[in-house]
Amino acid sequence: MTTTAPARDVPTRRVRFEYPLDGLPKDFAGDPVLSRVLMVLSSVFPDGEDYFVRSVRHFRHEVTDPELAEQVKGFIGQESIHGREHRAFNDKLAELGYPTKKIERFIERSLGFRERVQSPKANLATTAALEHFTAVFAEQILTSEEARDALAHDEVRSLFLWHALEESEHKAVAFDVYHHVGGREWVRRLVMNVITTGLVVGASVAVAAMLVLDPRARRDPRGALRELGASPFFTKGMWTRLRDYNRRGFHPDDVDTTELVERWRDELFGDDGTLRSRVS
Ligand SMILES: [Fe+2]
Ligand SMILES: [Fe+2]
Repeated sequence: MTTTAPARDVPTRRVRFEYPLDGLPKDFAGDPVLSRVLMVLSSVFPDGEDYFVRSVRHFRHEVTDPELAEQVKGFIGQESIHGREHRAFNDKLAELGYPTKKIERFIERSLGFRERVQSPKANLATTAALEHFTAVFAEQILTSEEARDALAHDEVRSLFLWHALEESEHKAVAFDVYHHVGGREWVRRLVMNVITTGLVVGASVAVAAMLVLDPRARRDPRGALRELGASPFFTKGMWTRLRDYNRRGFHPDDVDTTELVERWRDELFGDDGTLRSRVS
């Protein structure tokens, strides 16, 4: 099956972030629980994004639509730089005593295993599904001031904002490639259900561990759960958006983020953009 992709600008920006010489604070996101959640997320990104790139690159030669082929090029460029910058951030977090390198190695091994046992098309479906997770997370950062404020450290906020903008720019690329090469709708939805179940189980284990291991949470487990539930990164709206992927006929462009993307392109990389000087 071939489809024609709508025009989308997916530029590769060679951005570099720098962290203060006197080090990052351990609770770089202000709140200790959120700092740990973001630490895990950042540790998953580099090898996760390498996997996304390999999954899409595998089908590159089958992409006959020149517009989509151009977007694939941009997707590979963007994800490669995300991986590089999150790896650099993870090195800094490791210096603070976080187990980022262990998590990176675990993700590398699990995704390597997945690639050995799954078909290339199932890997592409996995990538399309995980790209929906990142797109929903990105939208939350770009739309919610509360979420941005929660990322207390300036450089960390910039890192996540830049990443969020580019996830929104390329949110439909892996999905469109999947359909372009004849990926089936029922497999797409099944893969999402399997991934969601795995992540819900994983998140529940992480929360239970936090309640047992964190002395603050042990003293006041109800308060810790309330705090987590009130986080701008765990909202009911985000859950509804995530589950929307399972609707028959869903497409990432069903939620139009064009204006949002334009606003942040201008704020970050426009003439007076705050990150303009970071691009080499
Ligand atoms: Fe990314
Ligand atoms: Fe992505």
